[in-house]
Amino acid sequence: MDQRKWWKEAVVYQIYPRSFLDTNGDGIGDLNGITAKLDYLQALGVDVLWLSPIFRSPNADNGYDISDYEDIMTEFGTMSDFERLLQEAKARGLKVLLDLVVNHTSDEHPWFVASRQNDPHYHNFYIWREGKAGAPPTNWFAAFGGSAWKYDSERDAYYLHLFTEKQPDLNWEERKVREAVYKMMRFWLDKGVDGFRMDVINLIGKPDIFEDAPVASGEVYGNGFSFIANHPKSYQYLREMYEEVLSHYDLMTVGETPAVTPEIALNYVQDGKPLNMVFQFEHMDVDSGQSKWDVRPVDWIRFKQIMSRWQEGLGDRGWNSLYLNNHDQPRSVSRYVRYAHDPEYRKRGAKMLATMLHLMQGTPFIYQGEEIGMTNVAFSRIEDYRDVETLQFYDEGRRKGQRHEALMAAIYAKSRDNARTPMQWSSDAYAGFTSGTPWIKVNEDYKEINVAAALEDSDSIFHYYRALIRLRKRLPVIVYGTYTVYDLEHPSLYVYERRYDGDSLLVLLNLTDSPQSYTVPATFYGKTAALILNNTEPLATFWPYIDGTCDAEGLSPETLTTMALSPYEARVYHINHA
Ligand code: GLC
Ligand code: CA
Repeated sequence: MDQRKWWKEAVVYQIYPRSFLDTNGDGIGDLNGITAKLDYLQALGVDVLWLSPIFRSPNADNGYDISDYEDIMTEFGTMSDFERLLQEAKARGLKVLLDLVVNHTSDEHPWFVASRQNDPHYHNFYIWREGKAGAPPTNWFAAFGGSAWKYDSERDAYYLHLFTEKQPDLNWEERKVREAVYKMMRFWLDKGVDGFRMDVINLIGKPDIFEDAPVASGEVYGNGFSFIANHPKSYQYLREMYEEVLSHYDLMTVGETPAVTPEIALNYVQDGKPLNMVFQFEHMDVDSGQSKWDVRPVDWIRFKQIMSRWQEGLGDRGWNSLYLNNHDQPRSVSRYVRYAHDPEYRKRGAKMLATMLHLMQGTPFIYQGEEIGMTNVAFSRIEDYRDVETLQFYDEGRRKGQRHEALMAAIYAKSRDNARTPMQWSSDAYAGFTSGTPWIKVNEDYKEINVAAALEDSDSIFHYYRALIRLRKRLPVIVYGTYTVYDLEHPSLYVYERRYDGDSLLVLLNLTDSPQSYTVPATFYGKTAALILNNTEPLATFWPYIDGTCDAEGLSPETLTTMALSPYEARVYHINHA
Protein backbone atom coordinates (compact mmCIF):
# COMPACT_ATOMS: atom_id res chain seq x y z
CA MET A 1 0.00 0.00 0.00
CA ASP A 2 1.43 3.37 -0.91
CA GLN A 3 0.36 5.14 2.23
CA ARG A 4 1.40 8.65 1.26
CA LYS A 5 3.39 10.50 3.91
CA TRP A 6 5.40 13.70 3.76
CA TRP A 7 8.36 11.99 5.40
CA LYS A 8 8.51 9.43 2.59
CA GLU A 9 8.58 12.14 -0.07
CA ALA A 10 11.16 14.29 1.71
CA VAL A 11 14.92 14.54 1.30
CA VAL A 12 16.86 15.13 4.52
CA TYR A 13 20.08 17.12 4.86
CA GLN A 14 22.26 16.41 7.90
CA ILE A 15 24.19 19.26 9.46
CA TYR A 16 27.11 18.77 11.82
CA PRO A 17 26.88 22.25 13.34
CA ARG A 18 30.42 22.32 14.68
CA SER A 19 31.78 22.07 11.13
CA PHE A 20 29.15 23.89 9.08
CA LEU A 21 29.79 27.64 9.33
CA ASP A 22 31.37 29.80 12.01
CA THR A 23 29.97 33.34 12.20
CA ASN A 24 31.80 34.76 15.23
CA GLY A 25 35.38 33.80 14.49
CA ASP A 26 35.92 31.34 17.35
CA GLY A 27 36.66 28.56 14.86
CA ILE A 28 33.53 26.58 15.77
CA GLY A 29 30.44 26.38 13.60
CA ASP A 30 27.30 27.84 15.18
CA LEU A 31 23.53 28.13 14.85
CA ASN A 32 23.77 31.53 13.19
CA GLY A 33 25.97 29.88 10.60
CA ILE A 34 23.16 27.46 9.78
CA THR A 35 20.63 30.28 9.56
CA ALA A 36 22.97 32.12 7.20
CA LYS A 37 22.99 29.18 4.80
CA LEU A 38 19.29 28.38 4.68
CA ASP A 39 18.97 29.92 1.22
CA TYR A 40 21.70 27.63 0.00
CA LEU A 41 19.90 24.60 1.41
CA GLN A 42 16.63 25.74 -0.08
CA ALA A 43 18.33 26.10 -3.47
CA LEU A 44 19.54 22.52 -3.20
CA GLY A 45 15.91 21.56 -2.71
CA VAL A 46 16.02 19.52 0.49
CA ASP A 47 12.96 19.45 2.74
CA VAL A 48 14.24 18.57 6.18
CA LEU A 49 17.35 19.51 8.17
CA TRP A 50 18.67 17.13 10.80
CA LEU A 51 20.98 18.88 13.22
CA SER A 52 23.53 16.76 15.06
CA PRO A 53 23.33 17.61 18.80
CA ILE A 54 23.07 21.32 19.60
CA PHE A 55 22.62 20.93 23.37
CA ARG A 56 24.81 21.95 26.30
CA SER A 57 27.77 19.57 26.36
CA PRO A 58 31.35 19.28 27.58
CA ASN A 59 32.11 17.82 24.11
CA ALA A 60 33.81 14.59 25.05
CA ASP A 61 32.07 13.20 21.95
CA ASN A 62 31.19 16.45 20.16
CA GLY A 63 27.77 16.93 21.68
CA TYR A 64 26.77 13.26 21.89
CA ASP A 65 27.43 13.72 25.61
CA ILE A 66 24.74 16.09 26.83
CA SER A 67 24.83 17.92 30.14
CA ASP A 68 21.61 19.92 29.65
CA TYR A 69 18.94 18.75 27.20
CA GLU A 70 16.98 21.98 27.34
CA ASP A 71 19.76 24.45 26.68
CA ILE A 72 22.00 25.22 23.71
CA MET A 73 25.71 24.37 23.57
CA THR A 74 27.54 27.55 24.61
CA GLU A 75 29.76 27.52 21.50
CA PHE A 76 26.73 27.19 19.20
CA GLY A 77 24.78 30.19 20.47
CA THR A 78 21.63 30.78 22.48
CA MET A 79 18.05 29.60 22.64
CA SER A 80 16.95 32.71 20.78
CA ASP A 81 19.46 31.90 18.00
CA PHE A 82 17.78 28.51 17.80
CA GLU A 83 14.29 29.98 17.72
CA ARG A 84 15.34 32.30 14.93
CA LEU A 85 16.85 29.40 13.00
CA LEU A 86 13.62 27.46 13.36
CA GLN A 87 11.52 30.39 12.29
CA GLU A 88 13.71 31.17 9.27
CA ALA A 89 13.73 27.50 8.28
CA LYS A 90 9.92 27.32 8.46
CA ALA A 91 9.64 30.49 6.41
CA ARG A 92 11.45 28.59 3.65
CA GLY A 93 9.36 25.45 4.00
CA LEU A 94 12.17 23.56 5.70
CA LYS A 95 11.50 21.23 8.61
CA VAL A 96 13.95 20.62 11.44
CA LEU A 97 14.87 17.38 13.21
CA LEU A 98 16.90 17.30 16.40
CA ASP A 99 19.23 14.56 17.57
CA LEU A 100 17.78 12.73 20.56
CA VAL A 101 20.67 11.28 22.55
CA VAL A 102 19.04 9.42 25.41
CA ASN A 103 20.86 6.12 25.72
CA HIS A 104 23.34 8.09 27.81
CA THR A 105 24.02 11.58 29.13
CA SER A 106 27.25 13.36 29.95
CA ASP A 107 28.81 12.51 33.30
CA GLU A 108 28.49 16.24 33.91
CA HIS A 109 24.70 16.14 33.62
CA PRO A 110 23.10 17.12 36.97
CA TRP A 111 21.23 13.77 36.96
CA PHE A 112 24.52 11.90 36.99
CA VAL A 113 26.11 14.21 39.51
CA ALA A 114 23.15 13.58 41.85
CA SER A 115 23.09 9.85 41.13
CA ARG A 116 26.74 9.44 41.94
CA GLN A 117 26.06 11.24 45.26
CA ASN A 118 23.28 8.75 45.92
CA ASP A 119 20.56 11.39 45.96
CA PRO A 120 17.41 9.27 46.53
CA HIS A 121 15.49 10.80 43.61
CA TYR A 122 18.30 10.03 41.15
CA HIS A 123 19.50 6.82 42.78
CA ASN A 124 18.37 4.63 39.87
CA PHE A 125 18.86 7.03 36.97
CA TYR A 126 21.98 5.19 35.79
CA ILE A 127 23.17 1.59 35.75
CA TRP A 128 25.19 0.98 38.90
CA ARG A 129 26.62 -2.40 39.89
CA GLU A 130 29.00 -3.85 42.44
CA GLY A 131 32.37 -5.05 41.16
CA LYS A 132 33.37 -8.71 41.07
CA ALA A 133 36.36 -9.24 43.35
CA GLY A 134 37.93 -5.91 42.52
CA ALA A 135 37.10 -6.23 38.81
CA PRO A 136 34.25 -4.68 36.80
CA PRO A 137 30.82 -6.38 36.97
CA THR A 138 31.23 -7.85 33.45
CA ASN A 139 33.98 -8.10 30.86
CA TRP A 140 32.22 -5.91 28.26
CA PHE A 141 34.12 -3.45 26.11
CA ALA A 142 33.03 0.12 25.46
CA ALA A 143 32.39 1.17 21.86
CA PHE A 144 35.56 3.24 21.53
CA GLY A 145 37.86 0.98 23.57
CA GLY A 146 38.49 -0.14 27.14
CA SER A 147 35.99 -1.49 29.67
CA ALA A 148 32.32 -0.49 29.57
CA TRP A 149 32.41 -0.01 33.35
CA LYS A 150 33.98 2.70 35.42
CA TYR A 151 34.44 2.60 39.17
CA ASP A 152 33.16 5.67 40.97
CA SER A 153 34.63 6.21 44.42
CA GLU A 154 31.93 8.64 45.49
CA ARG A 155 29.23 6.02 45.16
CA ASP A 156 31.59 3.08 45.61
CA ALA A 157 30.13 1.24 42.62
CA TYR A 158 30.68 0.81 38.89
CA TYR A 159 28.53 2.53 36.28
CA LEU A 160 27.91 1.26 32.77
CA HIS A 161 29.05 3.34 29.80
CA LEU A 162 28.67 1.69 26.40
CA PHE A 163 30.53 4.64 24.87
CA THR A 164 33.23 6.78 26.56
CA GLU A 165 33.43 6.97 30.33
CA LYS A 166 32.06 10.49 30.02
CA GLN A 167 28.82 9.01 28.62
CA PRO A 168 27.11 7.00 31.39
CA ASP A 169 24.11 4.93 30.21
CA LEU A 170 20.71 5.98 31.48
CA ASN A 171 18.61 3.37 33.23
CA TRP A 172 15.41 3.22 31.16
CA GLU A 173 13.94 0.73 33.61
CA GLU A 174 13.48 3.70 35.93
CA ARG A 175 10.12 5.34 35.18
CA LYS A 176 11.43 8.75 36.30
CA VAL A 177 14.08 8.60 33.54
CA ARG A 178 11.48 7.85 30.89
CA GLU A 179 9.20 10.59 32.12
CA ALA A 180 12.04 13.11 32.14
CA VAL A 181 12.94 12.17 28.56
CA TYR A 182 9.32 12.45 27.35
CA LYS A 183 8.98 15.82 29.03
CA MET A 184 12.15 17.03 27.32
CA MET A 185 10.89 15.77 23.95
CA ARG A 186 7.63 17.69 24.38
CA PHE A 187 9.65 20.80 25.28
CA TRP A 188 11.29 20.76 21.83
CA LEU A 189 8.23 19.61 19.92
CA ASP A 190 6.17 22.39 21.44
CA LYS A 191 8.76 24.82 20.11
CA GLY A 192 7.93 23.56 16.65
CA VAL A 193 10.59 20.95 15.98
CA ASP A 194 9.45 18.37 13.39
CA GLY A 195 10.96 15.18 14.72
CA PHE A 196 14.01 13.35 15.92
CA ARG A 197 16.92 11.29 14.80
CA MET A 198 17.42 8.98 17.76
CA ASP A 199 20.97 8.10 18.71
CA VAL A 200 21.67 4.35 19.27
CA ILE A 201 18.06 3.98 20.30
CA ASN A 202 18.07 0.18 20.14
CA LEU A 203 20.50 0.07 23.05
CA ILE A 204 18.19 1.67 25.64
CA GLY A 205 16.71 -1.65 26.80
CA LYS A 206 19.14 -3.62 28.94
CA PRO A 207 18.88 -7.27 30.04
CA ASP A 208 17.84 -8.10 33.62
CA ILE A 209 20.95 -10.11 34.28
CA PHE A 210 24.37 -9.04 33.06
CA GLU A 211 26.65 -11.88 31.99
CA ASP A 212 30.20 -11.98 30.68
CA ALA A 213 30.53 -12.18 26.90
CA PRO A 214 32.85 -14.55 25.02
CA VAL A 215 36.33 -13.12 24.51
CA ALA A 216 38.09 -13.55 21.17
CA SER A 217 41.67 -14.82 21.35
CA GLY A 218 44.18 -12.08 22.06
CA GLU A 219 41.43 -9.78 23.40
CA VAL A 220 40.70 -8.66 26.95
CA TYR A 221 37.06 -7.69 26.64
CA GLY A 222 33.91 -9.31 25.27
CA ASN A 223 31.04 -7.93 23.25
CA GLY A 224 28.25 -6.98 25.64
CA PHE A 225 26.41 -5.17 22.84
CA SER A 226 25.22 -8.54 21.60
CA PHE A 227 23.11 -8.92 24.80
CA ILE A 228 21.78 -5.40 24.55
CA ALA A 229 21.09 -4.39 20.95
CA ASN A 230 17.41 -4.92 20.08
CA HIS A 231 16.48 -6.21 23.52
CA PRO A 232 12.66 -6.56 23.69
CA LYS A 233 12.67 -3.83 26.33
CA SER A 234 13.83 -1.34 23.71
CA TYR A 235 10.69 -2.06 21.66
CA GLN A 236 8.62 -1.72 24.78
CA TYR A 237 10.10 1.68 25.70
CA LEU A 238 9.73 2.96 22.17
CA ARG A 239 6.09 1.90 22.06
CA GLU A 240 5.55 3.78 25.29
CA MET A 241 7.38 6.81 23.84
CA TYR A 242 5.10 6.58 20.81
CA GLU A 243 1.95 6.53 22.95
CA GLU A 244 3.14 9.24 25.30
CA VAL A 245 4.78 11.63 22.85
CA LEU A 246 5.31 10.77 19.18
CA SER A 247 1.71 9.91 18.29
CA HIS A 248 0.53 13.35 19.43
CA TYR A 249 2.49 15.21 16.73
CA ASP A 250 3.00 14.99 12.96
CA LEU A 251 6.65 13.99 12.92
CA MET A 252 9.51 12.33 11.13
CA THR A 253 11.42 9.86 13.29
CA VAL A 254 14.49 7.82 12.45
CA GLY A 255 16.28 5.60 14.91
CA GLU A 256 19.95 4.81 14.71
CA THR A 257 20.07 1.05 15.21
CA PRO A 258 23.32 -0.88 14.93
CA ALA A 259 22.95 -4.65 14.45
CA VAL A 260 19.57 -4.76 12.76
CA THR A 261 18.38 -6.94 9.91
CA PRO A 262 15.21 -6.17 7.94
CA GLU A 263 13.33 -8.73 10.05
CA ILE A 264 14.42 -7.08 13.29
CA ALA A 265 13.82 -3.61 11.87
CA LEU A 266 10.13 -4.36 11.33
CA ASN A 267 9.79 -4.30 15.12
CA TYR A 268 10.61 -0.61 14.93
CA VAL A 269 9.06 0.55 11.67
CA GLN A 270 6.13 -1.65 10.65
CA ASP A 271 3.37 0.71 9.50
CA GLY A 272 5.50 3.65 10.65
CA LYS A 273 5.31 2.67 14.34
CA PRO A 274 6.83 3.35 16.77
CA LEU A 275 9.41 4.89 14.38
CA ASN A 276 9.18 5.84 10.72
CA MET A 277 12.63 4.58 9.79
CA VAL A 278 15.84 3.19 11.15
CA PHE A 279 19.44 3.65 10.11
CA GLN A 280 20.78 0.15 9.48
CA PHE A 281 24.52 -0.53 9.26
CA GLU A 282 24.86 -3.69 7.19
CA HIS A 283 25.87 -1.86 4.02
CA MET A 284 28.50 0.07 5.97
CA ASP A 285 30.36 -3.17 6.69
CA VAL A 286 31.16 -4.34 3.17
CA ASP A 287 34.68 -2.92 3.33
CA SER A 288 35.50 -4.14 6.85
CA GLY A 289 37.01 -7.30 8.28
CA GLN A 290 37.07 -7.98 12.04
CA SER A 291 36.44 -4.34 12.86
CA LYS A 292 35.83 -1.18 10.86
CA TRP A 293 39.57 -0.44 11.05
CA ASP A 294 40.40 -3.70 9.30
CA VAL A 295 39.95 -2.18 5.84
CA ARG A 296 38.98 -4.41 2.89
CA PRO A 297 38.12 -3.67 -0.73
CA VAL A 298 34.42 -2.92 -1.18
CA ASP A 299 32.47 -6.11 -1.86
CA TRP A 300 29.88 -4.76 -4.30
CA ILE A 301 27.97 -7.99 -4.66
CA ARG A 302 27.45 -8.07 -0.93
CA PHE A 303 26.49 -4.42 -1.01
CA LYS A 304 23.83 -5.07 -3.65
CA GLN A 305 22.53 -8.10 -1.76
CA ILE A 306 22.21 -6.10 1.42
CA MET A 307 20.48 -3.14 -0.20
CA SER A 308 18.15 -5.47 -2.06
CA ARG A 309 17.24 -7.38 1.09
CA TRP A 310 16.35 -4.09 2.76
CA GLN A 311 14.41 -2.83 -0.24
CA GLU A 312 12.41 -6.04 -0.41
CA GLY A 313 12.30 -6.72 3.32
CA LEU A 314 10.76 -3.43 4.36
CA GLY A 315 9.14 -2.44 1.08
CA ASP A 316 6.08 -0.47 2.06
CA ARG A 317 5.39 -2.54 5.18
CA GLY A 318 7.94 -0.30 6.79
CA TRP A 319 10.13 2.32 5.20
CA ASN A 320 13.84 2.58 4.43
CA SER A 321 16.25 5.34 5.22
CA LEU A 322 18.88 5.71 2.49
CA TYR A 323 22.36 6.93 3.31
CA LEU A 324 26.01 6.55 2.35
CA ASN A 325 27.39 9.34 4.53
CA ASN A 326 27.01 10.78 7.97
CA HIS A 327 29.21 12.26 10.71
CA ASP A 328 30.46 8.78 11.69
CA GLN A 329 31.43 7.53 8.24
CA PRO A 330 34.23 8.33 5.80
CA ARG A 331 33.32 10.31 2.70
CA SER A 332 31.52 8.08 0.19
CA VAL A 333 33.34 9.39 -2.86
CA SER A 334 36.70 8.43 -1.35
CA ARG A 335 35.36 5.16 -0.03
CA TYR A 336 33.69 3.77 -3.13
CA VAL A 337 35.35 5.48 -6.10
CA ARG A 338 38.88 4.68 -7.22
CA TYR A 339 40.99 7.63 -8.30
CA ALA A 340 38.65 10.00 -6.43
CA HIS A 341 41.52 12.50 -6.42
CA ASP A 342 41.05 12.79 -10.19
CA PRO A 343 38.46 15.56 -10.75
CA GLU A 344 36.64 13.71 -13.54
CA TYR A 345 36.41 10.41 -11.68
CA ARG A 346 35.39 12.19 -8.53
CA LYS A 347 32.54 14.03 -10.22
CA ARG A 348 31.35 11.06 -12.22
CA GLY A 349 31.65 8.70 -9.25
CA ALA A 350 29.86 10.99 -6.81
CA LYS A 351 26.97 11.39 -9.26
CA MET A 352 26.77 7.64 -9.81
CA LEU A 353 26.57 7.01 -6.05
CA ALA A 354 23.93 9.71 -5.67
CA THR A 355 21.86 8.19 -8.47
CA MET A 356 22.07 4.77 -6.87
CA LEU A 357 20.85 6.02 -3.53
CA HIS A 358 18.23 8.56 -4.54
CA LEU A 359 16.49 6.22 -6.93
CA MET A 360 15.93 3.46 -4.40
CA GLN A 361 12.80 3.27 -2.30
CA GLY A 362 13.17 5.18 0.94
CA THR A 363 13.99 8.61 2.28
CA PRO A 364 17.43 9.86 1.18
CA PHE A 365 19.76 11.53 3.66
CA ILE A 366 22.49 13.87 2.40
CA TYR A 367 25.36 14.70 4.74
CA GLN A 368 26.87 18.20 4.56
CA GLY A 369 29.52 18.41 1.86
CA GLU A 370 28.34 15.24 0.10
CA GLU A 371 26.51 17.45 -2.39
CA ILE A 372 29.82 18.95 -3.51
CA GLY A 373 31.75 15.69 -3.39
CA MET A 374 33.92 16.42 -0.36
CA THR A 375 36.64 13.82 0.17
CA ASN A 376 38.47 12.07 3.00
CA VAL A 377 41.30 13.88 4.71
CA ALA A 378 44.81 12.60 5.56
CA PHE A 379 46.59 14.52 8.32
CA SER A 380 50.10 13.15 8.81
CA ARG A 381 50.15 13.86 12.55
CA ILE A 382 47.78 12.15 14.96
CA GLU A 383 47.71 15.44 16.89
CA ASP A 384 45.61 16.95 14.12
CA TYR A 385 42.80 14.45 14.74
CA ARG A 386 40.00 15.35 17.15
CA ASP A 387 37.64 12.37 17.19
CA VAL A 388 37.67 10.43 20.45
CA GLU A 389 37.19 7.09 18.67
CA THR A 390 40.13 7.76 16.34
CA LEU A 391 42.39 8.84 19.17
CA GLN A 392 41.51 5.82 21.32
CA PHE A 393 42.11 3.49 18.35
CA TYR A 394 45.53 5.07 17.75
CA ASP A 395 46.59 4.96 21.42
CA GLU A 396 45.49 1.37 21.84
CA GLY A 397 47.28 0.36 18.63
CA ARG A 398 50.50 2.03 19.72
CA ARG A 399 50.25 0.37 23.13
CA LYS A 400 49.99 -2.98 21.34
CA GLY A 401 53.12 -2.10 19.36
CA GLN A 402 51.52 -1.36 15.98
CA ARG A 403 53.30 0.96 13.56
CA HIS A 404 52.28 4.59 13.16
CA GLU A 405 52.01 4.16 9.35
CA ALA A 406 49.72 1.14 9.59
CA LEU A 407 47.43 2.85 12.08
CA MET A 408 47.31 6.02 10.00
CA ALA A 409 46.37 4.05 6.88
CA ALA A 410 43.31 2.72 8.71
CA ILE A 411 42.53 6.19 10.03
CA TYR A 412 42.73 7.70 6.53
CA ALA A 413 40.21 5.15 5.33
CA LYS A 414 37.80 5.10 8.25
CA SER A 415 38.23 7.91 10.79
CA ARG A 416 35.08 9.80 11.65
CA ASP A 417 37.08 13.00 11.22
CA ASN A 418 36.95 12.39 7.47
CA ALA A 419 33.39 13.65 7.70
CA ARG A 420 34.05 16.35 10.26
CA THR A 421 36.50 18.69 8.57
CA PRO A 422 34.97 22.12 7.92
CA MET A 423 32.40 22.55 5.19
CA GLN A 424 34.11 23.99 2.12
CA TRP A 425 32.24 27.13 1.11
CA SER A 426 34.79 28.91 -1.07
CA SER A 427 38.47 29.12 -2.05
CA ASP A 428 39.03 31.80 0.62
CA ALA A 429 41.21 31.12 3.67
CA TYR A 430 39.93 28.15 5.69
CA ALA A 431 37.48 27.45 2.88
CA GLY A 432 35.33 30.35 4.04
CA PHE A 433 34.34 28.35 7.13
CA THR A 434 35.80 30.74 9.69
CA SER A 435 37.73 33.97 10.05
CA GLY A 436 39.51 32.48 13.06
CA THR A 437 41.34 29.20 13.50
CA PRO A 438 39.14 26.18 12.82
CA TRP A 439 38.74 23.60 15.62
CA ILE A 440 39.87 20.95 13.13
CA LYS A 441 41.96 21.53 10.04
CA VAL A 442 40.38 22.16 6.67
CA ASN A 443 40.86 19.57 3.93
CA GLU A 444 43.55 20.89 1.58
CA ASP A 445 41.48 20.23 -1.52
CA TYR A 446 39.14 23.15 -0.69
CA LYS A 447 40.58 25.32 -3.45
CA GLU A 448 39.02 23.02 -6.05
CA ILE A 449 36.18 21.50 -4.04
CA ASN A 450 33.91 24.17 -2.62
CA VAL A 451 30.35 25.45 -2.79
CA ALA A 452 31.14 28.62 -4.71
CA ALA A 453 32.80 26.64 -7.50
CA ALA A 454 29.99 24.08 -7.49
CA LEU A 455 27.28 26.70 -7.85
CA GLU A 456 29.01 28.18 -10.89
CA ASP A 457 29.54 24.92 -12.73
CA SER A 458 26.24 23.84 -14.28
CA ASP A 459 27.51 20.26 -14.39
CA SER A 460 28.70 20.12 -10.80
CA ILE A 461 27.79 17.42 -8.33
CA PHE A 462 25.67 20.03 -6.56
CA HIS A 463 23.47 20.63 -9.59
CA TYR A 464 23.17 16.91 -10.15
CA TYR A 465 21.86 16.48 -6.59
CA ARG A 466 19.43 19.30 -7.28
CA ALA A 467 18.26 17.43 -10.35
CA LEU A 468 17.77 14.19 -8.40
CA ILE A 469 15.71 16.00 -5.77
CA ARG A 470 13.60 17.73 -8.42
CA LEU A 471 12.98 14.45 -10.19
CA ARG A 472 11.75 12.96 -6.93
CA LYS A 473 9.15 15.71 -6.70
CA ARG A 474 8.08 15.09 -10.29
CA LEU A 475 7.87 11.30 -10.40
CA PRO A 476 5.87 9.38 -7.77
CA VAL A 477 7.57 6.19 -8.98
CA ILE A 478 10.77 7.36 -7.28
CA VAL A 479 9.06 7.54 -3.91
CA TYR A 480 6.40 4.87 -4.09
CA GLY A 481 7.50 2.47 -6.82
CA THR A 482 8.41 -1.17 -6.15
CA TYR A 483 12.04 -2.26 -6.43
CA THR A 484 13.32 -5.14 -8.54
CA VAL A 485 16.99 -5.93 -8.88
CA TYR A 486 18.49 -7.61 -11.98
CA ASP A 487 21.73 -9.55 -12.41
CA LEU A 488 22.40 -9.44 -8.69
CA GLU A 489 25.59 -11.49 -9.09
CA HIS A 490 27.10 -9.10 -11.63
CA PRO A 491 30.31 -7.87 -9.96
CA SER A 492 30.53 -4.52 -11.78
CA LEU A 493 27.03 -3.29 -12.51
CA TYR A 494 24.05 -2.42 -10.36
CA VAL A 495 20.80 -2.67 -12.31
CA TYR A 496 17.37 -2.19 -10.80
CA GLU A 497 13.89 -1.19 -11.74
CA ARG A 498 11.30 0.89 -9.97
CA ARG A 499 7.70 0.43 -11.03
CA TYR A 500 4.53 2.26 -10.19
CA ASP A 501 1.23 2.67 -11.93
CA GLY A 502 2.35 1.57 -15.41
CA ASP A 503 5.51 3.69 -15.23
CA SER A 504 8.91 2.26 -14.72
CA LEU A 505 12.43 3.51 -14.24
CA LEU A 506 15.39 1.39 -15.19
CA VAL A 507 18.56 2.36 -13.32
CA LEU A 508 21.91 1.21 -14.70
CA LEU A 509 25.08 1.89 -12.76
CA ASN A 510 28.67 1.04 -13.53
CA LEU A 511 30.27 0.60 -10.11
CA THR A 512 33.79 0.32 -11.49
CA ASP A 513 36.54 2.29 -13.19
CA SER A 514 36.44 0.09 -16.30
CA PRO A 515 34.02 0.25 -19.24
CA GLN A 516 31.25 -2.37 -19.26
CA SER A 517 29.03 -3.79 -21.95
CA TYR A 518 25.56 -4.83 -20.86
CA THR A 519 22.54 -6.41 -22.48
CA VAL A 520 19.35 -5.34 -20.75
CA PRO A 521 17.18 -8.06 -19.14
CA ALA A 522 14.66 -9.78 -21.43
CA THR A 523 11.71 -7.81 -19.99
CA PHE A 524 13.23 -4.62 -21.37
CA TYR A 525 14.88 -5.89 -24.54
CA GLY A 526 13.64 -4.00 -27.61
CA LYS A 527 11.50 -1.61 -25.56
CA THR A 528 11.50 2.08 -26.27
CA ALA A 529 12.68 4.26 -23.45
CA ALA A 530 13.66 7.85 -22.72
CA LEU A 531 16.98 8.55 -21.07
CA ILE A 532 15.99 11.01 -18.32
CA LEU A 533 19.31 11.29 -16.50
CA ASN A 534 22.91 10.42 -17.31
CA ASN A 535 26.05 11.53 -15.50
CA THR A 536 28.21 11.56 -18.64
CA GLU A 537 26.16 14.14 -20.51
CA PRO A 538 25.52 17.82 -19.70
CA LEU A 539 22.71 18.22 -17.22
CA ALA A 540 21.22 20.88 -19.52
CA THR A 541 20.06 18.05 -21.82
CA PHE A 542 17.73 16.79 -19.11
CA TRP A 543 16.53 19.96 -17.38
CA PRO A 544 13.44 20.49 -19.53
CA TYR A 545 12.22 17.06 -18.49
CA ILE A 546 13.29 17.42 -14.85
CA ASP A 547 11.60 20.81 -14.67
CA GLY A 548 8.44 19.49 -16.23
CA THR A 549 8.58 21.74 -19.28
CA CYS A 550 8.64 18.66 -21.49
CA ASP A 551 7.62 15.06 -20.85
CA ALA A 552 9.42 11.81 -21.66
CA GLU A 553 8.13 11.88 -25.26
CA GLY A 554 9.97 15.16 -25.70
CA LEU A 555 13.30 13.40 -25.21
CA SER A 556 14.58 11.37 -28.15
CA PRO A 557 13.57 7.74 -27.60
CA GLU A 558 16.06 4.87 -27.56
CA THR A 559 15.61 1.17 -28.13
CA LEU A 560 16.98 -0.84 -25.23
CA THR A 561 19.31 -3.66 -26.33
CA THR A 562 23.02 -3.92 -25.60
CA MET A 563 24.81 -0.83 -24.37
CA ALA A 564 28.25 0.35 -23.38
CA LEU A 565 28.66 1.96 -19.99
CA SER A 566 31.74 4.02 -19.35
CA PRO A 567 33.52 4.05 -15.94
CA TYR A 568 31.14 5.07 -13.14
CA GLU A 569 28.39 5.83 -15.63
CA ALA A 570 24.84 6.12 -14.32
CA ARG A 571 21.80 6.01 -16.57
CA VAL A 572 18.14 6.33 -15.72
CA TYR A 573 15.55 5.34 -18.33
CA HIS A 574 11.87 6.08 -18.15
CA ILE A 575 9.69 3.41 -19.70
CA ASN A 576 6.00 3.70 -20.28
CA HIS A 577 4.54 0.19 -20.30
CA ALA A 578 1.13 1.31 -21.49
C1 GLC B 1 26.04 7.42 17.63
C2 GLC B 1 26.51 8.73 17.06
C3 GLC B 1 27.99 8.84 17.31
C4 GLC B 1 28.22 8.83 18.80
C5 GLC B 1 27.58 7.61 19.46
C6 GLC B 1 27.47 7.78 20.93
O1 GLC B 1 26.60 6.34 16.99
O2 GLC B 1 26.18 8.82 15.72
O3 GLC B 1 28.53 9.99 16.73
O4 GLC B 1 29.58 8.83 19.07
O5 GLC B 1 26.27 7.37 19.01
O6 GLC B 1 26.52 8.78 21.23
CA1 CA C 1 31.37 30.17 16.19
